[in-house]
Amino acid sequence: MKRSARAVAHPNIALAKYWGKLEGPGNFPAVPSLSVTLAGMRTETTVRFDPALTEDRLLLQGEPATPAAAARMTKLLDRVREEAGFATRAEVISRNDFPTASGLASSASGFAALALASVRAAGLAWDLPTISDLARRSSASAARSIFGGFVTLPAGEPGIDKLPAEPFLPADHWDLVVVVAVATEQAKDVGSTEGMLRTSKTSPLYEGWLKGAPAIYERVRQALLRRDLEALGAAVEQSALAMHGTAMGADPPVVYFRPVTLAALEAVRGLRRNGTLAYATMDAGPHVKVVTEASNLDVVAAAMKEVPGIERLIVARPGPGAEVLEEEG
Ligand code: PMV
Repeated sequence: MKRSARAVAHPNIALAKYWGKLEGPGNFPAVPSLSVTLAGMRTETTVRFDPALTEDRLLLQGEPATPAAAARMTKLLDRVREEAGFATRAEVISRNDFPTASGLASSASGFAALALASVRAAGLAWDLPTISDLARRSSASAARSIFGGFVTLPAGEPGIDKLPAEPFLPADHWDLVVVVAVATEQAKDVGSTEGMLRTSKTSPLYEGWLKGAPAIYERVRQALLRRDLEALGAAVEQSALAMHGTAMGADPPVVYFRPVTLAALEAVRGLRRNGTLAYATMDAGPHVKVVTEASNLDVVAAAMKEVPGIERLIVARPGPGAEVLEEEG
């Protein structure tokens, strides 16, 4: 077996959101999603299988992983060990070069990098779809970060046992940018797994979300193919707001919005009133991500900087999939 491997992966933002899982094991999403993998931000992860270790040694940003994060990472490593036919423990060193408080799901790039590095370190000759499926079991959005550009993840279906993400369009298909407006307010958010579970169990709106999400996904797909920003933006905003509306209908409600979220949404609407096509999307946190064409970047950035409560902007463009940087055996 190979001893160690180092891999890089980038976060992604869903243009058509996934929210909710199929009942039962396997972490299968209940609706299809479509994302763009972002350049300019990266997670780098080294996995080293070491016979001298008696348990996995997991370091995130130089600190030991919390028990919850460690359990999730060890579960992924256990799957790899089982397939490779050995029980050797691993040292994992993982670093994000973007602030984890940026509201960019670090679990997407984190589990994508961990999946790729651990599979290669174990010497398994898996293709990218198989690695994407492995990442999906830990975090469904991580399946998408294995691939670059625009990426789809189909909904799960009862009875299947494998579901990888699929590359849809290359990063250079369209000169889009995502302006991440990072909110100052850092309320403790409900994690996505817990938020989804509560939504599916208690929100009376969840059935409507399940019915409506595939059509929104299809509109996002078609608008991307046509490079139609107005059609894309309308579907992107509806996907995000329908997801959040459904979550807000849970008991107790799952509310990720803060006053700054609505202020940023209003600024995006203001841009449109003044003729700039810009559209907002929000994930499991208060931050607003603005999708627009690169030619609008300066106007959009200037407007978002003015929103009280926005701490800083991160500008990201469509980028590459996960890659192995180094292997030693
Ligand atoms: O797969 P998770 O647990 O990282 O959840 C992703 C949830 C959203 O980011 C809100 C939507 C999505 O499709 O990425």
